[in-house]
Amino acid sequence: MNVHKPVQRVAIVGTGTIGASWATHYLVRGFDVTATDPAPTAEAALRSYVGAAWDAAASIGLAPDASPDRLSFTADLRQAVADADFVQENAPERPELKVRLFADIDDATPPDAIIASSSSGITMSVIQAECRRPERTVIGHPFNPPHIVPLVEVVGGTKTALETIRDAMSFYAAIGKKPIHLKKELPGHVANRIQAALYREVVHLVQEGVLDVADSDDAVSWGPGLRWGVMGPHLLWHLGGGEGGIQHFMDTLMPRMVASWQELGTPEFTPELKEEIVRGVLEEADGHSVDELAARRDAMLSALLAVRAEYDPSGRVPQPVARRRRDRDTAPGETVRARGQQWRSPVLREPRRFRQEGPCHRVQAPRRSRRRCRGRAHLLDEHGPSAGERRLDRTRGPGRRQPDDARSQRRHVHAEAAPLRGHQPEAVLG
Ligand SMILES: NC(=O)c1ccc[n+]([C@@H]2O[C@H](COP(=O)([O-])OP(=O)(O)OC[C@H]3O[C@@H](n4cnc5c(N)ncnc54)[C@H](O)[C@@H]3O)[C@@H](O)[C@H]2O)c1
Repeated sequence: MNVHKPVQRVAIVGTGTIGASWATHYLVRGFDVTATDPAPTAEAALRSYVGAAWDAAASIGLAPDASPDRLSFTADLRQAVADADFVQENAPERPELKVRLFADIDDATPPDAIIASSSSGITMSVIQAECRRPERTVIGHPFNPPHIVPLVEVVGGTKTALETIRDAMSFYAAIGKKPIHLKKELPGHVANRIQAALYREVVHLVQEGVLDVADSDDAVSWGPGLRWGVMGPHLLWHLGGGEGGIQHFMDTLMPRMVASWQELGTPEFTPELKEEIVRGVLEEADGHSVDELAARRDAMLSALLAVRAEYDPSGRVPQPVARRRRDRDTAPGETVRARGQQWRSPVLREPRRFRQEGPCHRVQAPRRSRRRCRGRAHLLDEHGPSAGERRLDRTRGPGRRQPDDARSQRRHVHAEAAPLRGHQPEAVLG
């Protein structure tokens, strides 16, 4: 097959929820974008979406020459894809429609262009069935909204060339996405399956009357969800295993978790349950519109991404705070790289102070913190010790101090990551 040339022009096919968001992302990253959609109001809706989403997308990564003016629109599919280097298809989730559409796109797009589908559930082996050049077709499944959330699942069909997968992965990574390669096709790809597995248990707990809707949301977003926002479950279990790390976790704690899988529920989705969820969610929304909540979500996600990028530009493993924030104070309420937003990051609302090495001569830190400051990087929190630190102190007993820097530093790292030493399995799993 042809080697794919560098991408300069992107075509967006279908400009609904996902297509409009993708268009915003590509524009913000400095591409010429041509969009197409048969709906009569599609162009106006798309331009309005791009205008509204621009600031949030730009706060994550704005190319120097990016502009919403580089968006063009045509209702003619062939014209839209005629000079595209990369096509992102986002038409309705109907197999027969996607098969026909891909055959048409394949026919009209330069042979060295990649054609990607955002499809959530239809495999590329199905979609590429009638393409003359199926080797350049691939799934590039985003997580909504793609102008904010980095994950893209990349998976080929049986006729997709390895080069297409490789080049699609490189392209997405180069434009600020976080592509993962699925080695096998499966319905729903991966992230939606993970989401479905968790939601099944959430709904089960609501049906069983263990939690109401709002509490079940809190149980996810203020606990495991908060941690998953910075590290995946495997890496978190490495911390959960304490000093023995993942090996200890797998040896001692995993069997309990495996046993608990048998107790997970499969709710029966009755009309009553449906009504309970709808009522509970509307109460939780408390009169705020979907648009308001979406703007709040996007602003908070942008701020979280800025924090993640600061701690670890590679997007892999979060680094200790002080290594990246040398000798710098953050002002209370600071919003990092979230310009143009009404909503400020609660993550950064607390006045926290970060220092590196040496005596604490600039920050009037609490006595405990000053003691720990000697000779190493650490974080000072004006509000006193974290819950993890307090728990560690209880474990250790009052007035007992760590004798050396190495132990003390280890203690600090544990306090930030998870309270591990002397922990009970229930605490880790919870
Ligand atoms: N909504 C999500 O959360 C989400 C997330 C990830 C992936 N996806 C996938 O993205 C795709 C689009 O989903 P959506 O939620 O944006 O749907 P949507 O209904 O919001 O948008 C679909 C758009 O496609 C247009 N369209 C209809 N026929 C077309 C054709 N022949 N050619 C071009 N455009 C056509 C429609 O006018 C509409 O604007 C689906 O494959 C879906 O599985 C959706």
